[in-house]
Amino acid sequence: MSQTPTHALPSYLNAEDLGPWGNYLQQVDRVTPYLGSLSRWVETLKRPKRSLIVDVPIELDNGTIAHFEGYRVQHNVSRGPGKGGVRFHQDVTLSEVMALAAWMSVKNAAVNLPYGGAKGGIRVDPRKLSASELERMTRRYTSEIGVIIGPSKDIPAPDVNTNAQTMAWMMDTYSMNEGATATGVVTGKPIALGGSLGRVEATGRGVFVVACEAARDQNIDVSKARVVVQGFGNVGGTAARLFHEAGAKVIAAQDHTGTVHNPAGLDVHKLLSHVSQTGGVGGFSGGQALDKNEFWTLETEFLIPAALESQITLDNAAKVRAKIVVEGANGPTTPEADDILAENGVYVVPDVLANAGGVTVSYFEWVQDFSSFFWSEDEINQRLERLMREAYASVAQVAREHKVTLRTAAFIVACTRILQARQVRGLYP
Ligand SMILES: NC(=O)c1ccc[n+]([C@@H]2O[C@H](COP(=O)([O-])OP(=O)(O)OC[C@H]3O[C@@H](n4cnc5c(N)ncnc54)[C@H](O)[C@@H]3O)[C@@H](O)[C@H]2O)c1
Repeated sequence: MSQTPTHALPSYLNAEDLGPWGNYLQQVDRVTPYLGSLSRWVETLKRPKRSLIVDVPIELDNGTIAHFEGYRVQHNVSRGPGKGGVRFHQDVTLSEVMALAAWMSVKNAAVNLPYGGAKGGIRVDPRKLSASELERMTRRYTSEIGVIIGPSKDIPAPDVNTNAQTMAWMMDTYSMNEGATATGVVTGKPIALGGSLGRVEATGRGVFVVACEAARDQNIDVSKARVVVQGFGNVGGTAARLFHEAGAKVIAAQDHTGTVHNPAGLDVHKLLSHVSQTGGVGGFSGGQALDKNEFWTLETEFLIPAALESQITLDNAAKVRAKIVVEGANGPTTPEADDILAENGVYVVPDVLANAGGVTVSYFEWVQDFSSFFWSEDEINQRLERLMREAYASVAQVAREHKVTLRTAAFIVACTRILQARQVRGLYP
């Protein structure tokens, strides 16, 4: 499917190089035929509501001044305030933040959370900054985007290279500017600042829950299954541990430091401590090193990409020998690769469903902050599991009805909800 000629693009986009936003536009095109009369509103989904680019100047420890490019994009707020993470990475672009914001709109609607979609980022390699430089950059960025965020406007959260400390600085900066403590302005905060129990593990737990639902549909016994995981950070590490505890064999893990393979099953607890001591899976003595491309060709029941975008592509999709792919990362499969996986009968649980556990517990955190009443970890995990199972069931039902992939079905469910809200609200003025 061609990316460019069918879309009327805003002037700030380059049709020759749409990046991740182009992938998202193709996904919207695929769902449009299923939207019935709501397709009249589909252009709404192809334009972010609001895109803010900010300059973030800070004084470095050596006395010089550095400028960083920051973004906050609110893709859609028809169903509720914007919600989505903040990423610090040297490759962040406006196109990437726009796509990630749009996927948040779809994700929140697919799981039926009362949010729109948003995302933020700074184009920076945070490993090159000291802790105090990082704090100054985070605070200045928060102040710059402060005009559009807020507990009932847009609620940031952690994403790649940001964490609970980043959220604490953001919450403090916003609160200082407002003159009142506003815990609900960000989620993924430390527990001491109104964070929620269960938030750290929520995305990986959600990945595991929907993987179990998919396994039941595909007649796979999780306790006897093999699992291959890319990314052994928050999402991949937690999902791997839960699979391991359920009796599955995690036979390979890959991250930026290398790939380890053990057909008899890696000892996930030992691998997790190796990662926390050394920073990655590379050099783990409980398995053999494996070529990074061969990783994708391993025969396995589950393949969990939980690192970065565009990992399953035209180059490796035909070689994937997994029965089920559960997308822990955002956008790990390109649209062309998605078609190949579907043709080869690989069952793909898409990112907008599979990794929604994080934003779901973020939603619980926000609700707890508003009511100043906090739930137990058991309550949180039970509510998370119920919500994820229900979301999987309604998407799988639509997939069966229309004979489409789970990704198209998730987009049908989500885009219908978003455009219904758009339609009943009507256009202002
Ligand atoms: N943390 C969340 O709550 C959450 C929620 C939804 C989606 N996600 C998505 O999940 C993905 C992972 O997020 P995370 O929070 O686990 O991040 P993280 O920083 O904890 O872990 C990232 C992992 O990716 C690996 N990685 C980085 N570059 C790589 C490369 N070139 N090749 C192979 N591996 C590489 C890192 O080594 C690390 O293991 C991202 O796409 C993120 O957007 C995260």
